[in-house]
Amino acid sequence: MTRITILGGTGYTGSAIAREALSRGFGVTSFSRTAPEGDARLEGVTYKTGSLTAPDVRSRAVVGADVLVSALSPRGELDGRIVEVNREIAALAQAKGLRLVMVGGFSSLRPKANAPRFAEGDGIPPEFAPEILQMNDILNSLLASPEPLDFVFFSPAQQYGSFAPGEATGRYRIGGDVVFFDDNGASAISGADFARAIVDEIERPSHRRAHLSVAY
Ligand SMILES: NC(=O)c1ccc[n+]([C@@H]2O[C@H](COP(=O)([O-])OP(=O)(O)OC[C@H]3O[C@@H](n4cnc5c(N)ncnc54)[C@H](OP(=O)(O)O)[C@@H]3O)[C@@H](O)[C@H]2O)c1
Repeated sequence: MTRITILGGTGYTGSAIAREALSRGFGVTSFSRTAPEGDARLEGVTYKTGSLTAPDVRSRAVVGADVLVSALSPRGELDGRIVEVNREIAALAQAKGLRLVMVGGFSSLRPKANAPRFAEGDGIPPEFAPEILQMNDILNSLLASPEPLDFVFFSPAQQYGSFAPGEATGRYRIGGDVVFFDDNGASAISGADFARAIVDEIERPSHRRAHLSVAY
């Protein structure tokens, strides 16, 4: 049985990945500062608590995992620290020989092949710039990491997030680092379908040291 540890496993993305992984019979452990209560708890998930800004919590988080998923967001306590925290997590994954699955943002994608990423252009909304730039820094750090680190960095479609949970359709498109738009110019993915794409890649690894775009 594959054992997946999800950092931020109680968040919007992390809990969707946990739900999908449980449905496939994987062992799932979540790390977050607080454990969910009531209906938010998923039966079968082992919830562990602690701030991943602390080295001892990070060290605990990699014990017993085959795959490490980082679904942390650059908000609250992690705003300004997420790049460093994820760099330490990547170093632990490499040292332990764990596959690292990083959840990042839409803006790290390119509008077309070989074009600058959205995050590198002038058009990013100022209110989201800190989040976008931090997640883009994490991608750059992974791409520059030593070859033994086995990672995949997932970027969701533009219309993705707790503000637009969408429907589970069981379908998605996955590809390199270029955004997918539909015929109407929309780029979207539901929480459930994004989680499905990530868990499919965990179950049947077909990319290594890759940046992947996921949309419907
Ligand atoms: N369209 C887009 O591009 C888009 C939209 C949404 C999200 N995203 C990306 O998806 C990723 C996940 O975002 P999300 O919205 O799913 O996250 P989220 O709902 O904000 O969840 C964050 C998770 O991290 C945990 N956490 C926060 N600080 C922590 C700490 N110091 N130590 C341990 N755990 C901590 C939270 O639990 P506690 O608070 O209990 O610790 C929670 O489980 C991010 O990279 C984000 O940029 C992209």
